Order: sequence, then C-alpha cells, then structure tokens
Amino acid sequence: MSKKVVILKSSPREKGNSSVLADQVQKGLEAQGATVESIFLHRMDIKACDACDACKSLDGCIIDDDMKGLYDKLIAADVVVLASPIYWFTFNAQLKTFIDRWYGMETQGIRRFAGKKVGIVLAYGDSDFDRSGAINAIHTLESVFNYLQSEIVGIVSGSAMDIGDAEKDKDLMDKAYQLGVKLGSNSGG
Ligand SMILES: Cc1cc2nc3c(=O)[nH]c(=O)nc-3n(C[C@H](O)[C@H](O)[C@H](O)COP(=O)(O)O)c2cc1C
Repeated sequence: MSKKVVILKSSPREKGNSSVLADQVQKGLEAQGATVESIFLHRMDIKACDACDACKSLDGCIIDDDMKGLYDKLIAADVVVLASPIYWFTFNAQLKTFIDRWYGMETQGIRRFAGKKVGIVLAYGDSDFDRSGAINAIHTLESVFNYLQSEIVGIVSGSAMDIGDAEKDKDLMDKAYQLGVKLGSNSGG
C-alpha cells in the first residue's frame, strides 16, 4: 500500500533553501510510490498553545484555527517530514508554534505519533555547521520524537544562505532526494 506522507515547510520563503530541499525529499518519496502532501506553515493561522488543558478532558484542541485540518493530516500520515530554516541557532518559530500544538494530540495517554517515521530538513546560513546552531534544532527534534515514540529515519542539513544556494549544492540536493527514497522504501521509512 502506498505510504501517506505529509511534508511541513516552516520557512516564509516558499522558494527558499529548506523548501527546495524538502521538494527533493518529496521527489525521492514519490519515486518510491508514496502519496505526498506538502504544506507551507508560514501563512497558515496557527495560534500558540494556550496551555488551557482542555485537550486533557476533551481529547483534542479547542482553538479554532488551521490546526484543525492539520491534526487529521498528521494522524493519517505514515511519514512526517519537517523542513525548517535555522533562525537564531535553532528551528524557526513557525515550526515551534506548530509543534507546541501537538500537545493537543497527545493527551489521555494516547501516542498518536507512535510508530510514524520522520524526516528532518534544515537549512542554515553559516558556512560552519557547529556555528550555525543546527545542532540545537537536531537535539530538540530528537527529544520530541523520542518522547512521541517516532523514529527519525534521517536528517539532511546544509549550509545555504540565499535563495538558490541549496540548488547549487548537488551533494546536498542528492542527500535530500536519498532521504526521500529511504523514507519511502519499505525497509527504511
Ligand atoms: C531571522 C533569521 C535568523 C537566522 N539565524 C541564523 C542562525 O542562527 N544560524 C545560521 O546559520 N543562519 C541563520 N539565518 C540564515 C538562514 O538560516 C538561511 O538564510 C537559510 O537559508 C534560511 O532557510 P530558507 O531559505 O529555507 O528560509 C537566519 C536567518 C534569519 C532570517
């Protein structure tokens, strides 16, 4: 059966580096027969978690915004891919706000992410990985998916500052494509 994949892109730059790399992941996934939906988070109405804890008794979030549609897509997905720029030494606020809202899916002891496979794509401007802060994003996402009992199948991160830089890096583009292939294959993803 074809795998269901949702790709969430958090950059405001729709043709930016993390988005271009995420598109490569999508191509690799589709080459494996996966059904992929790709979504830009930046222009969506995703409010910050209120910590109202209504989800603890209602099993769902009461905030009326675009997360309503996204919860169903996340729950239905076999594979989730997150693509973010590095801002201030970690992933950007758009992605953090989105992830904070997963709190409303994981109440009452239900682990809705359990068993899902995950791919991560990060683009940073610094020429040096250690200086870029990408490691902080990776550490946080490892903690998130460890808690959620999901497996991170692969992480592609690369230096690319301006729009168009990622495309010029053939090795990086290929790594992103190969991550898609791995996520889409029955042994990898
Ligand atoms: C607000 C902001 C903060 C940034 N902070 C960092 C940073 O801490 N480390 C880094 O290496 N690059 C930083 N950058 C550069 C971006 O990570 C880089 O331009 C990247 O290509 C953006 O990805 P995108 O094209 O997918 O939007 C920052 C850019 C912006 C706009």
